[in-house]
Parts: sequence; C-alpha cells; structure tokens
Amino acid sequence: MEMKIYPSILAADFLKLGEEIKKVENNVDGIHIDVMDGMFVPNISFGTPIVKAVKKVTDLYLDAHLMIVDPDRYIEDYAKMGVHGITVHYEATTHLHRTVSKIKELGCDAGVSLNPHTPVFLLEEILPYLDRVLIMSVNPGFTGQKFIPSSLEKIRKLKSMIDEKNLNVTIEVDGGVGLKNIRDLYLAGVREFVVGAGVFHQEDSAKAAEELKKVGLG
Ligand code: DX5
Ligand code: ZN
Repeated sequence: MEMKIYPSILAADFLKLGEEIKKVENNVDGIHIDVMDGMFVPNISFGTPIVKAVKKVTDLYLDAHLMIVDPDRYIEDYAKMGVHGITVHYEATTHLHRTVSKIKELGCDAGVSLNPHTPVFLLEEILPYLDRVLIMSVNPGFTGQKFIPSSLEKIRKLKSMIDEKNLNVTIEVDGGVGLKNIRDLYLAGVREFVVGAGVFHQEDSAKAAEELKKVGLG
C-alpha cells in the first residue's frame, strides 16, 4: 500500500475550517477527525455538527478517531454521516469484537487504536477482523505533543504480528509525527500518517503535507 497522509483538523483554525481543508485537499489522502469526550481523554474537541460540516466541503476519505468512552453509542451516527473509517480505542471498548463487527456492517473500515501503554499482543485475537491499527505515539488529548520514541519498536512488533499471520491490516500512527520521524516510521511499517501540527501549524500547510509525503517515499 502506498503511504497516506491524513491531516488532523484538531490542529486547524476552527473559524476557517472549510478554507483549511481546501488548502490541503490536493496534497493529502484523507482528513483525520479527532472526536474527544473529556472523559476518555482530558479534552473535549467536537462532535457530529463539525463532522457534518466537514463532509459538506470535501469528498476526501474521512478517518474518524473516536476518543470516547463506550464508542458503540455513536458508531451508527458517524457511519450515517458518511465517514469512511471508524477507529475506536481498545481501552474504551468492552466488547471489541461486537464493536468492530458493527463498524464493518455499517460499511466502514474498522480500526482499533492503542494508547502508548497498551501492548500490541492484546490485539492477537481481534487482528484478523481489522482494517487498521492506530498506534498512538503520544497520550491522546492534544495536538502538538512530543513523539514517544518507543512507539517505533511497538510498531515493528505489530508489523511482525501482521506479517506472521499474513493479514491485510494497515498500520496508522498518530501523535508528534513530522519530518524528523516520518521516514523511520515508514520503514517500520506505517502506511497511514496522521499529522496535526506538522501540517496545520506550518506556514504553508499544503507544502508541508507534500514534503512529508516525499520523505516517506524517498
Ligand atoms: C491526539 C490526536 C491527534 C493529534 C495529532 O490526541 O489524536 O490526532 O491531533 O496532532 P499532532 O500531529 O500535532 O501531534
Ligand atoms: Zn487522532
């Protein structure tokens, strides 16, 4: 699979969200949507009204990252709004197999995310049912945090689990991703890169996204 860049709108200027998305639209592969409930993570971001607004301005792949307690309550709403992928947290979901099956039934790609402290071996049984695993390389909640270096080793472990079972699961990374680490992450097996500050906090967000993509391939 070719590498993909998904800018996180959490780092965008909310008052100009439409323009911010339009600026990067031709240089990215999707939009990452960080939904936070102030319970699972110590921050509240936004919910369905913003997602509906985003859906109106772009046809890009919408990658919803639900950082919320008991995400089953909202999966159907997000699928109906037209997001393409729904990722829930391992730590926030009691019946993960049921949740993942529901996401697939609703026609979306199913992802499971792991916080930095959660080991990849816990995914052993659920892995064959997933389209993506999202490795958090910061403690989720905020944009602009520092990449946790041990995430690289964790990604390598996950990659061997996937290869060993010959599965078609994509590894995505989220948190502190930028020019400094994108190549190492690519080599470790990541193919989907969520970037917040590294795109939207740059002077030219479109160019920043383009540069990131080049480094990953070069
Ligand atoms: C973190 C969010 C991320 C965040 C990434 O809680 O899930 O998607 O916006 O932002 P950066 O790339 O700035 O770390
Ligand atoms: Zn995210």
